[in-house]
Order: sequence, then structure tokens, then C-alpha cells
Amino acid sequence: MRKMKVCSEVLANGGTVAFPTETVYGIGANALNSEAARKIFEAKRRPADNPLIVHIAEIENVYPLVEKVSKKARKLMTKFWPGPLTIIFRKSKQVPAIVTAGLDTVAVRMPNHPIALCVIKESGVPIAAPSANISGKPSPTRGNHVVDDLFGRVDIIINGGDCEVGLESTVLDMTINPSVILRPGGVTKEMIEEVLGERVDFYDSSEENFSSILPKAPGMKYVHYSPNADVIVYRGEKDKITRRIELDLAEFIKQGKKVGIICTEVLDETGDGSVSRVMTRNTEVVSGLLDCAKKYAGANVKSLGDRGELKFIATNVFRILREFDVEEVDIILVEAVDEIGIGKAIMNRLIKASGYNVAEV
Ligand code: TXA
Ligand code: MG
Repeated sequence: MRKMKVCSEVLANGGTVAFPTETVYGIGANALNSEAARKIFEAKRRPADNPLIVHIAEIENVYPLVEKVSKKARKLMTKFWPGPLTIIFRKSKQVPAIVTAGLDTVAVRMPNHPIALCVIKESGVPIAAPSANISGKPSPTRGNHVVDDLFGRVDIIINGGDCEVGLESTVLDMTINPSVILRPGGVTKEMIEEVLGERVDFYDSSEENFSSILPKAPGMKYVHYSPNADVIVYRGEKDKITRRIELDLAEFIKQGKKVGIICTEVLDETGDGSVSRVMTRNTEVVSGLLDCAKKYAGANVKSLGDRGELKFIATNVFRILREFDVEEVDIILVEAVDEIGIGKAIMNRLIKASGYNVAEV
């Protein structure tokens, strides 16, 4: 508790603190203090035109930050806060321009993590907090990921273990009608539509749109989640994906490349339960036990987990991309997952990590 107090004081006094949330780790600073917010951009090497999400610890704290809260927004806040949903509102004058990158809107979220909530609440101010990675790198889902990226660049790093969701929050723009999901995440389109009783759209972040003059979510135009290696995502029918990856793998090995493979498992086919015991949230999978390790001989194979458990898969995506950086592979070949529920968010991150390098098989 005493330590939490120190963190809150650092925040209140204009310093920076990296802390865990249920989605990914964030690097926080006082959102009402331009000089403090500037330190975040510097620490992360984040381009100044990419706005930050403002984090609060109590629902009422949204009101001073925004022009108004619609009935619809209130419904979603009541249902999903604290939790992995960021809502975009028209901003109030209180929020400095540096936080919103000059936009007249502000992104607000209430994280569902005891450490984040405690630190924010004790600081007594709203906290601007992007993901705690160097810009362009995969987001951190473990304390040591933050240390790897930000040690010496931030006043305090709180190591609070593994993040439960593993992908960043859903970003929903409610300043337009119908509302638009700018970034898919843990709160899915279906979940939002059920509460609102109306349709919401996905922002088209396809490659053509990617380079348009004014992307809706400014962050979208930048390279994202990129490991050092090249990445190819293989999408299509499962058996075809396997065959195509095997062919490409042989070719890359011939070229002398170190190949990493990201695959998924069908666990219920193993029958004896030995694999399912080692495949839980945030768990490194013992690859010797797995089907895909047998399929892709000669490669460095890592499994995201059971294909039927997309929630678990989500917790492993960024960790595995980071591991391949450490292991210095030249190219990473990725089996696509089903784009349903949180699978939409998983594929969004994988495709961005590949720089839109998708092989339809
Ligand atoms: O789960 C999360 O949201 C994590 C944790 C730390 O809370 N935070 C996070 O922040 O992912 P960041 O900065 O890495 O991503 C914020 C995204 C960016 O793509 C940014 O462009 C978009 O939200 N964004 C922020 N304010 C916006 C605004 N006013 N209009 C449109 N997009 C906005
Ligand atoms: Mg980020």
C-alpha cells in the first residue's frame, strides 16, 4: 500500500509510472498536465499526432473530461466499466491539446485492474496512458516486457504479473452515428450491439484505407506491433494453411533463414488431457507435446493455444511476438485464427504486425 502511495505521488507531481491493466501495461502520467503528458511521448518515442487514452478510476470522473455523456454511452459505461472498452467523446476544455493530439475528441477508459485503479484513484487526477512499449513494438503483457522497453525511460515500473486480456481495449467512437469500432478488443462488436440494441460498424482499416489522408484513429497509420522479423499471416482453410506453410518453410530454410511459426492446436483431439493441462492463460506451451511442432519440423514453433479458446490465444499473441525478437528469427509464419468474437482483435493485431502481409490460401 505504501508503495502504491509513492506511485500515486509521482503521478500527481508530474512523473511517469508504468502499471499493469487487464489489457496490457500502460505508461501513465497526469492527463491534465501538458508537461507530464509530454514525457510519455518522449519515453515511448511516440509520434505527437497519436492521441492518448485518459484513464479514470471512477465512472463519475468522466464528466469533467467531456462535453457530454449520451444515454447510449452511459449504458455502455455501466455495463463494461471497469473493463476493456475505451469510448471517444467530444472533449472538454480541461483536457490539454497534447493528450488528444489536437483533436476535439478524447478517448476515456476505466481499467479493470486493482493496481491500475488504486494508483489512479490515489493520484487524484485522470491518467493518460498508452501501452508501455516503445512505439511500433508489440504491446507489453508482462512486467519484464516493460522493463525491456522502458527501463531508465520512466520514473517507476510496477510489475503486477501477466495481463488477463492480453490485447488492448476496444476503441469505440461514439461521436458519430452509428458508433464505430476504431480498434477491436476484449469487448466485442456483438457485446456492444447487444447493450445498445443497434448496429455498430467497424472502421475499415484495410491497407488501402490505411494510407488515406486522415485516418479515423490517428494511431492506425503507424507501423504497429512489429517484431524485428518479417511476418506473413496465412488465412484460409486450415489444411490448406498447413500445406502452404510447409511449402514456404522448406523454401525459407533452403534460403538459410531462421523461421519462427505461430500456430494453434486442436486440443480435444488429443484425448488424454496431457496437453490441455499445460495450456492455460499466458502459459508457454511445451511444444514437444504439440501437433504443430510435429508438422513444422525444422522451424522454431510456438503455439498460441487451443484454437477453440480464443480468449487464451489473445493472452499469448504479444508475448510470442516478443520472444521471437529475443530468439532472433528472420521470418515468422502465422496460422490465422477464426475472426469471431475476440478473434477479430487477435487477427487485427497479427495482420498489423505483418504490415498487411497476408497470404490467402
Ligand atoms: O488497453 C488499452 O487501451 C491500453 C491500456 C494501457 O489501457 N492503452 C492503449 O493505448 O492501448 P494506446 O495509446 O497504445 O492506443 C490508443 C489508441 C491509439 O490507436 C489512438 O490513436 C487511439 O486509441 N485514440 C486515442 N484517442 C483518440 C481519439 N480522440 N480519437 C481517435 N482515436 C484515438
Ligand atoms: Mg499502443
